[in-house]
Amino acid sequence: MASFQLRTCLLCCLLFITILQPVASLRSYKTIPIVKNVITQSNPKYLNATTVAHNTPTEHKVDLILDVKRPMSNLHMTFVAWINVISGALQAPLHNQTFDFCEFLKNPSMHRFGQIIHREVKRNGNMPRNCPITADVYAFYGIPMATVWLPNFLPETDFIMQIFLRTTTELIYDARWYGTIKRIKCSRAGRC
Ligand SMILES: *[C@@H]1O[C@H](CO)[C@@H](O)[C@H](O)[C@H]1NC(C)=O
Ligand SMILES: *[C@@H]1O[C@H](CO)[C@@H](O)[C@H](O)[C@H]1NC(C)=O
Repeated sequence: MASFQLRTCLLCCLLFITILQPVASLRSYKTIPIVKNVITQSNPKYLNATTVAHNTPTEHKVDLILDVKRPMSNLHMTFVAWINVISGALQAPLHNQTFDFCEFLKNPSMHRFGQIIHREVKRNGNMPRNCPITADVYAFYGIPMATVWLPNFLPETDFIMQIFLRTTTELIYDARWYGTIKRIKCSRAGRC
């Protein structure tokens, strides 16, 4: 009797695995940003920011070097994103959000997309944990774009992402990131 139950149970398990397999393979691709060019303006009193994009047929990485010249606090960041920009004049942005950057450094999960970027940037360098951000060089080399997953509903198209960092009275950083959204097939090397 016990062995009959065991056999039934095993059969059920096999059946489940067979049924669930097609569902698992739906996650066969991911959507990532490929950065082509970044135009940066930084306020030399506070910051010298350099961004370099490295693209090969198989790898897409970004270096970000932030040379902070004096302590910075009371910071706000604005994140504006447009997609499908080549086709015509600049339309209304897909995303436009301003948030307290000092709060964000303490608690990155307050910003869903920012949290993904924060995690990947932090893995590749010395991320400040709170404000005031002390004068220092914060360098992040080889931030892999393949780990920045965008929502899969986004189309494969070009994008512009504009990032501002401000104190209550001054603009510190204004950068336009130009690139394309790409779907990448999941593989053993490029896991999803
Ligand atoms: C800014 O930093 C880059 C290297 O990251 C350097 O080449 C450049 O000279 C610096 N500019 C200033 C004004 O310090
Ligand atoms: C983003 O929103 C702010 C108000 O929250 C607005 O002043 C600004 O013009 C918007 N930016 C764009 C590019 O639409």
